[in-house]
Formats: sequence, structure tokens, C-alpha cells
Amino acid sequence: MENTLKGQTAIITGASSGIGTGVAKALAAAGATVVINYPVESSKPDAEAVLTDIINAGGTGMTAQCDVSKEDQVIRMFADTVAQYGTVDILINNAGLQRDAKFDEMTLDQWNLVINVNLTGQFLCAREAIREFLRRGPRPDVSLATGKIICMSSVHELIPWGGHVNYATSKGGIKMLMQSLAQEYGDRKIRVNSICPGAIQTPINRAAWETPQALNSLMSLIPYNRIGQPQDIGNLAVFLSSDLSDYITGASIFIDGGMTVFEGFATGG
Ligand code: BGC
Repeated sequence: MENTLKGQTAIITGASSGIGTGVAKALAAAGATVVINYPVESSKPDAEAVLTDIINAGGTGMTAQCDVSKEDQVIRMFADTVAQYGTVDILINNAGLQRDAKFDEMTLDQWNLVINVNLTGQFLCAREAIREFLRRGPRPDVSLATGKIICMSSVHELIPWGGHVNYATSKGGIKMLMQSLAQEYGDRKIRVNSICPGAIQTPINRAAWETPQALNSLMSLIPYNRIGQPQDIGNLAVFLSSDLSDYITGASIFIDGGMTVFEGFATGG
């Protein structure tokens, strides 16, 4: 899919690690100019390393520090991007985190942090992206759609997740955020979709794959019997950003090695 995104600028939130890094590299390889967002000063070296890899592979972009849960910082990141590259064509609403706890032990801080970053962060970034798409209007020379938003959801917008109620709630919220935006702005040719990853090998779920025992137990949830890689998600993000998916909007696309077909039912039930 080389050059499918040529001439387009993409902001990828949370791109200094994990799935965000995989998506940034895939979009850059497809020709997009990428804005590699990172949350705090301490993640700057990681973001710069991602940018260096992208430049070495022939891509272009810049890094941008911004805590997506802070309105002023989000507004500034979009303004800086427009000042630098003229507009934004693609938003990958990816930044997210987990603060796991048994529900009866969950603190309000754990709840608020996850909702603020995972859900309010997606609201703030989507709002700035849509404002920019409406201001700029169509660019038929680069894409059939006036703008594209991809929300990073999870299999946990469908599968309830005890011990992670704050996280599952944020992903359930993202489903309705995404679908309501697709409904409200479809006539302005803005496409909004979600990617719903299963277990992807990144720092967020290290405990689920770092020992052979943990990985073996994870495989009981994945019919396809392998853990996902950030590149798997990057490939789908390129497709959903490109005109190859021009008739897809309001969709949650699961990419999970079959986790959502509930493998236990192959022999149970
Ligand atoms: C979570 C991971 C988890 C996966 C499958 C993701 O959304 O962030 O920690 O491994 O869902 O349960």
C-alpha cells in the first residue's frame, strides 16, 4: 500500500510506544506525514527514536508533546500541526492506558485517569480534528473523504472485563463516541471508525506474555494461537485511512486472532 496516503498528514496520539508506534510507522510507510504524539517529557526520547526510524525508512514527520486529556494542550498540538503542514487529514485516536484494580478497591484517581485519557482524550482530539476538517473542506486531490478518524478501541468494547472496569467502560464509551460522530458528520464526508485490538504484544499487557506460562494461558483465549503485533494494527490503520475503505464508516473492526469468537465454546456450551 505504498503511497496510498501520499500528501496526507496524520496525527497519531500515544505514538511513542506500543500500538501507536506500529501505526505511525505503517502510515509513514504508506506515504503519510506523521505527527508522533507523546504524553510527557520523559517519553520524548522514545518519540524521537520512532521519528528517527521513520526518517531512516524514507518517511517524514515530527514529534509533538501533549497530554490528550488536557484541552489547551490538544488545541495547541492541532494548531502546531496545521502551522507546520497546512492541515490534518487523519487522526488516529490511540492514546490509552490501564490502571487495573478489583472494583471494590478501585480508587477514584484510577477511575478518573483512565476515563480522562482513554475517553475524554478521544473526545478532545476528535473535536479538534473535525473542526479542522470542516474549516479546510474537501481535498479531492488526496482523498475521497474530507477527513478520517480512527478510534483505538479494544475487544473490551464487547467483552466485559472484571478487574479492569474503568478500562472496559472507557472502551464501551468509545464505541458510542465513534458511532455518533459517524452519524453526525457522514454527510460532510468525514469517516469515523474503530479498531478493536485483542492481545497485541506491547508494554500495556506485558504480564500476559512475558513468561511462557502466561503466554500459554493467553493462547487459550486466541483461536489463531499467536499474540498480535503492532504491525498487524498498523496494516488495518492504513486500510481504514485510505480510499480503499471509502464506504466504511461507523464500524468497529475487531483484529484479535479470533478472541471475540469465544474459543471455549468450541468444546463447551
Ligand atoms: C488490553 C490488553 C489486553 C487485550 C485483550 C486490550 O485492550 O489493553 O491489556 O491484553 O485487550 O484482553
